[in-house]
Amino acid sequence: MDTEPTFFETNGPGTGGVVGLPLDRVDGFAKVTGQAKYSAEYRLPGLTYGVLKTSAIAKGKILSIDTAAAAKEPGVLAVLTHLNMPKLAKTPNDAEGKKAIGAPMGFLPLTSDQIHYAGQPVALIVADTFERATHAASLVRVQYAEEKPIGSFLDPKAQVFDPEKVQDGKTPGHTRRGNPQDALAASAVQLTATYVHAINHHNPMEPGATTAVWEAPDRVTVYESTQGVTRTQKSVATMLGLPQEQVRVITKYLGGGFGCKGASWPHTILTVQAAKAVGRPVKLSLTRPQMFTSMGHREDQTQTLKLGATKEGKLTALIHEKTSTTSPWDNYAEPNSKIINLLYECPNFESSYQLGRANVMTSTFMRAPGEAPGSFAIECSMDDLAYQLGIDPLQIRLLNYAEKDPSNGKPWSSKSLKQCYARGAELFGWSKRNPKAGVTREGRYLVGMGMATASYPVHNSQGTARVRLYADGHAVVQTGATDLGTGTYTVMTQVAADALGIAPDKVRFELGDTKLPTAPNSGGSVAAGTVSSSIYMAAQDVWQKLTKLAIQDKKSPLFKAKATDVVVEKGRLVLKANKAKGEDFAALMKRAEITDMEGSGAGKYGSGYEAAQAAANADPTKKDEAGEHSMHSFGAHFCEVKVDAELGTVRVTRWVSIHGAGRILNAKTARSQIIGGSIFGIGSALMEETFRDPNLARYTNASLGEYHIPVNADIPEMTVEFIDEHDPYINAMGVKGIGEISMVGVAAAVANAVFHATGKRIRSLPITPDKVM
Ligand code: MOS
Repeated sequence: MDTEPTFFETNGPGTGGVVGLPLDRVDGFAKVTGQAKYSAEYRLPGLTYGVLKTSAIAKGKILSIDTAAAAKEPGVLAVLTHLNMPKLAKTPNDAEGKKAIGAPMGFLPLTSDQIHYAGQPVALIVADTFERATHAASLVRVQYAEEKPIGSFLDPKAQVFDPEKVQDGKTPGHTRRGNPQDALAASAVQLTATYVHAINHHNPMEPGATTAVWEAPDRVTVYESTQGVTRTQKSVATMLGLPQEQVRVITKYLGGGFGCKGASWPHTILTVQAAKAVGRPVKLSLTRPQMFTSMGHREDQTQTLKLGATKEGKLTALIHEKTSTTSPWDNYAEPNSKIINLLYECPNFESSYQLGRANVMTSTFMRAPGEAPGSFAIECSMDDLAYQLGIDPLQIRLLNYAEKDPSNGKPWSSKSLKQCYARGAELFGWSKRNPKAGVTREGRYLVGMGMATASYPVHNSQGTARVRLYADGHAVVQTGATDLGTGTYTVMTQVAADALGIAPDKVRFELGDTKLPTAPNSGGSVAAGTVSSSIYMAAQDVWQKLTKLAIQDKKSPLFKAKATDVVVEKGRLVLKANKAKGEDFAALMKRAEITDMEGSGAGKYGSGYEAAQAAANADPTKKDEAGEHSMHSFGAHFCEVKVDAELGTVRVTRWVSIHGAGRILNAKTARSQIIGGSIFGIGSALMEETFRDPNLARYTNASLGEYHIPVNADIPEMTVEFIDEHDPYINAMGVKGIGEISMVGVAAAVANAVFHATGKRIRSLPITPDKVM
């Protein structure tokens, strides 16, 4: 298969008139009418229900587990514990197994009597109804030998260590450029600040859910709420010791994920095992409280950022240290320093990480992992610098604007940040802001304006797709991608329609099945860029085949034309030099008596695409350019808050976000993405916080009643715009992902507005009234 781009469209990819339109969601009707099937909604014949019983303690050992009463209940099919769970070929319990499985957590429950964290599953009960399984779970009696748990890295007994020394390749290591210590000591301005980030939980509307059905003793289908069917397939197959093709994973719809569905967690394989044990399909849906101890979280963390600058406000040094809580087995930490290393021109930089082991499950990626909390530190410190020197916060950012990537010296593949600043400032009315903090009042409210920069990388990725174009004018487009709920179905329908020259309602787009061509996880903001390119390339394959057919067909107006002289315009194959000469694909196919033409394509996103492009280029000097660019999206958020001077409550009253993120595939879903991510960020800034009791290592607010997230009344009308940006280096379509950049910098924009309103710098998230007062 030819992976090099051969662009047939006269004006290049995505210019067929459909890409970019604010199309309504193609899956909208199915969703609002309940026809869209989520992973816990497959009513399979003989379906049974799995319920987890979880540990009441956070550390210790199971002394005994009495399952007799539960097992005697009517309808109960199995009570599985570490004593009778079928054995797996491989578990993540050792480093090698964990790596092979791609598990986020190096421990699988129900494999031993050890308890490492509160909420750890200790039994899985299967019954013929959900109610019977739930009741039986309440009858399981567990006796523990309890030990005093470690609540977080702040616990004096926590083992705090430098993961750099562990060398497991999974943790962000130390980074150093120049001579940051000396540069800082010599700087006219020196600022040191410590930032605290609360534990956050993803809380997608749809909880983690698995429905497993064994079709044969060595063949299983898993309906799974996952951001990536292929990754889940690999994990499950490796643990079962089965060839990958004997495990099928299906995910047609997702009710959000935000990172917690990016890799497979224990409940998935336990459900697959339970289905094997009872010989019937088993469905297990995590309860909302279980969501707090089953699929990771954003870790509790402290960052210290030391900033050096000249008295004119130019950065001279940045030194970043992060300490966070991790589980007893893993060394996961969000890589916060990456964004701090590249956001502004600064010749001296250093970062390091410390981890503290506690009795918690392993934390994991959560929307903009690293960039979200990292941007909180750098963007608040930049504000401090601005106020200290009496320079406008927007001006200080322009003063330190990075014309190339400071972390590696490479030119940007594209960067529209200056335009984002300018457009945002204009729409927001930034110039009306009083430069002094704590002086703008409106009745009982203190009014503040703040802003912050956003950035998110283009992570390298690749995928494949298949397109079948029919002579009757419709097409079936397939790829094993997932739609988190953000619009993959819709934007990929547009990409296909655009490339094939047919109307979007003539495209049937299918995703979410390991039987389809492989696509990457919908994570790291790679889906839009990778999948769109795969589909585009598959469409090109169809055009190549049809061109061949036309130029060999005596009856075609293109008979004996040179293939390279043929282009496609809205579904018509025409001569580049004389576009009147040519024919419609349908006419050509009908004459050739073929009903359809299939094409397949591979799409690359990031420096892989750049490398392929350079290699395809005949000029050998160009080959060296592969990977020569630094690839990122950029944006800016502007926020107005009103702070109740007597109550300390903070309300976001105005919001403007402007991003430069390559080609926008759908103006409506893209705007929704940015709104959603910004609200997510406002939640982390003002509300979201999971409390882990320091003595018991248990969460005390594990429900949506007590874990606060913004509701409609908390959010003002939001203004979102995109800068028209063309990036030839990232992928065939020039598309950058927008899932995560939407959240980066948001908390800082809010905190900076709170400072401007009150004169009080709050460096601990969330900014709750007790901290404001
Ligand atoms: Mo995202 S946190 O990479 O699913």
